[in-house]
Amino acid sequence: MTDKPHHPLNADGELRAFFGRRVGKKLHAGQDKLFKERLPELSITLSDAKLDPAALFPVTPAELIVEIGYGGAEHLVREAVAAPKTGFIGCEVYSGGIAKAVQQIDAAELENVRLFTDDALKLLVKLPDASLDGVYLLYPDPWPKTRHHKRRFVSPTTLSELARVIKPGGWFRFATDIEDYADWTLAQALRAPLFRLETAAPGDWHNPYPGWAPTRYEQKARREGRLISFYFTFRRV
Ligand SMILES: C[S@@+](CC[C@H](N)C(=O)[O-])C[C@H]1O[C@@H](n2cnc3c(N)ncnc32)[C@H](O)[C@@H]1O
Repeated sequence: MTDKPHHPLNADGELRAFFGRRVGKKLHAGQDKLFKERLPELSITLSDAKLDPAALFPVTPAELIVEIGYGGAEHLVREAVAAPKTGFIGCEVYSGGIAKAVQQIDAAELENVRLFTDDALKLLVKLPDASLDGVYLLYPDPWPKTRHHKRRFVSPTTLSELARVIKPGGWFRFATDIEDYADWTLAQALRAPLFRLETAAPGDWHNPYPGWAPTRYEQKARREGRLISFYFTFRRV
C-alpha cells in the first residue's frame, strides 16, 4: 500500500482519492506476453453510457457476480470453474494480481470471466440498477490506522452503490480477519436500509461460505496468528 493517491470518480461524479498499490514486480517475459495479448480481450472498457454486464460474455450468463479486489484470483477462478453458466467480473488494480488472473483464465480456457483493472467503484457506478446477483469483497485492505479509515472500500457511498446494483434477494459478501473492519462494516451495513445481515445465530459469521477455500490473504493472516475471520452475508431486501 502506498500513500500516492489516484483520483477516480466517486458515485456522485466527484473525485475521491484511491490509495492502493497498482504496480508491482516486473512481469516475467511469458507473463508479460500473455498479459499484453489476452488482457485486451478480457478487460472491460467503460464509456459514458451505462454498461450492460451480460453483453460482455459470449453467452448470456444465468447470473452475474462481481468480485472486488480478487488479489491472486484464486477464489475468482475457482468460482468461475465451478459455475460455468455464471458470468464473473473481477476487479483488481494491482498489476501482479491482474497478470495472475489472466494466466489462470487462459490456462483454464474460461469464457465466463471478465476483468476490470481500475477502482471497482468506477465500475459499480456504470452498472444498471439491479443488474448483479452477488458481490464479493474478500479481505479488503484493512487500513488499520484511524486516520486512514476513510480509505477503506466500505463506506456509505460504496454501500449505497452496492444496494443499487444488487438485485433484491441478491447478496453482498464481506470477509475480513480484522475485527475493527468487521465492526465498521457491520455498523454501516446495519444503517443501510436495503441490506439485512443474514445469520442464523450470533457467531455464525465465523463460519466460512459454502465451498470455501482460504484465499491467499487469509492464509497469510493465519500464518501471522490472526486465526479468526468474519464472513458476513448481507441480503439485499
Ligand atoms: C488485502 S488484498 C486481498 C486479496 C484477495 N481478496 C485475498 O483475499 O487474497 C486486497 C486487494 O484489493 C485490491 N483493491 C483495493 N482497493 C481496490 C479497489 N478500489 N478496486 C479494486 N481492487 C482494489 C488490492 O489491490 C488488493 O489486491
